[in-house]
Amino acid sequence: MKIGVFGGTFDPVHQGHIELVKTAIEELDLDLLYVMPNGNPPHKEKEWDKKHRLGMVKLAFRNIPKVEISDYEINKEEPSYTYETLTDFQKEHPDDEIYFLMGMDNLSYFPNWKHPEIICKLAKLVFFGRCGYERTEEGVKAIREQFGAEPMLISFGWDISSTEIRSELGQGTYIFHKLPFLVYQYIIRNGLYDCPSVKEYDSFEEDLKNYIEEKRFLHSIGVAVTAYRMAIRYKEDPKLAYFAGLLHDIAKRMPLDKQLDLCKKIELHPDEVAYPKMLHAPAGAGFVKKKYNIKDKKLLSGIRYHTMGHKDMTTFDKLIYMADYIEPCRNFDGVEDLREATFSNLDEAIIKGIDTTILSLVEEHLKISPVLLEVRNDLLEREQKGR
Ligand SMILES: [Fe+2]
Ligand SMILES: [Fe+2]
Repeated sequence: MKIGVFGGTFDPVHQGHIELVKTAIEELDLDLLYVMPNGNPPHKEKEWDKKHRLGMVKLAFRNIPKVEISDYEINKEEPSYTYETLTDFQKEHPDDEIYFLMGMDNLSYFPNWKHPEIICKLAKLVFFGRCGYERTEEGVKAIREQFGAEPMLISFGWDISSTEIRSELGQGTYIFHKLPFLVYQYIIRNGLYDCPSVKEYDSFEEDLKNYIEEKRFLHSIGVAVTAYRMAIRYKEDPKLAYFAGLLHDIAKRMPLDKQLDLCKKIELHPDEVAYPKMLHAPAGAGFVKKKYNIKDKKLLSGIRYHTMGHKDMTTFDKLIYMADYIEPCRNFDGVEDLREATFSNLDEAIIKGIDTTILSLVEEHLKISPVLLEVRNDLLEREQKGR
C-alpha cells in the first residue's frame, strides 16, 4: 500500500489543508493518508489545545475518503521528532511505501532537521506549495546530494493560513469557504481563540435532533454559525443570533394541524395561511416559547419572520432571514455573490435575495406573495431616502 503521512499544527485546520490532502491522495495515488496533528509544536501550548486541535481535525476530515486521523503525536508526552514518528510508523507498516508530506517552506530547512538521513530512508519526501522558484531547485539539489533522496514536489496554491484564519475569527466576515463550518462551530462552542462560547446551547442542539432530519439539522447549524458571524459584523449579540439560527426551523417537520395550533396566539398574515410552507416560522416561535419558556423578544421575532420577513424588520430579524438564505450548505447559482453582499450591505443583500426568489417563482409559474414585494419596496424606499 502507498501511505501518506501529513503532520501539522492545525491551529486551526482549514479548507487549504483539506484541498491539499485531496490533491495528494490523487496525485500520489495513495491508498491511505494519515493526518497527524503534532503534540508539542515549538511554541508553548496549553494542554487542552492538543485535544481541541485533534477534535477540529476529526471534524474537518470526517467525510474525506482514504483519510484517517492519527493521534500518535498528540498522545506523546515528550516532543516528537519526525524521524522517531516515522521509525515507529515503519514498524507498523513494514511492507508499505510511506510518503511524508510537508510544506515547501520546509525544503531549505530540511537538512537541519534531526536525522534527515533516517527520514529519507524511511519515507519518500513530498513537498507541496508553489514550485518553480530558484530556491526550490536549490533545495531539491541539496537533499539529492546530501541524502541521495529524490524529493517529490506537488504544485499547490496555498492561499489560506491558520494565522490568517485566527486573526479573521474576531471579524464579522463570511469565512466558511476557508474554514469548514463544523470546525467553526467547534471553535465557538469551546470558546477557542477568544470567541464568545455557545456551549450553553448544546442541550437545545441535542433536543433539535428529535424534531428534524439530519439534512435540516445541518442546515440549522449552518444558519446558526452564519448568524453568529453576521451578528459580529452588524454589532448584534452573536450568541443570541446563534441560538435563533439553531432553532429557526424546529417546527418545519411538524404536522400542519400542530403548526396551526402553535400559531394560535400569533397574529398570522393571510399569506402565511395561504402558503402553508410559511407556517413553520410562526409555529417555531410559538413552540420555542411554549416548550422552552423562552421570552426573548428579539429571538422570537427572528424565528417568527425568517421566511416572509416583514415591513419593519429589525437588524436581528434580517440576520436570521439572510443567514437562512446563504448558510454554507446552500448551493445555488449566485449564492457566492449573495454572501458577499450580505456581509457588505445587509439591506441590499435582502433586496437581491428577494429578486432571486421572485425570478425563480416567475420561472416556476408560482404565485408571488405580496409580502415579498412589500419588504422589497420598503427597503428600496429607505435606501433611496438615505441617499
Ligand atoms: Fe425555515
Ligand atoms: Fe431554514
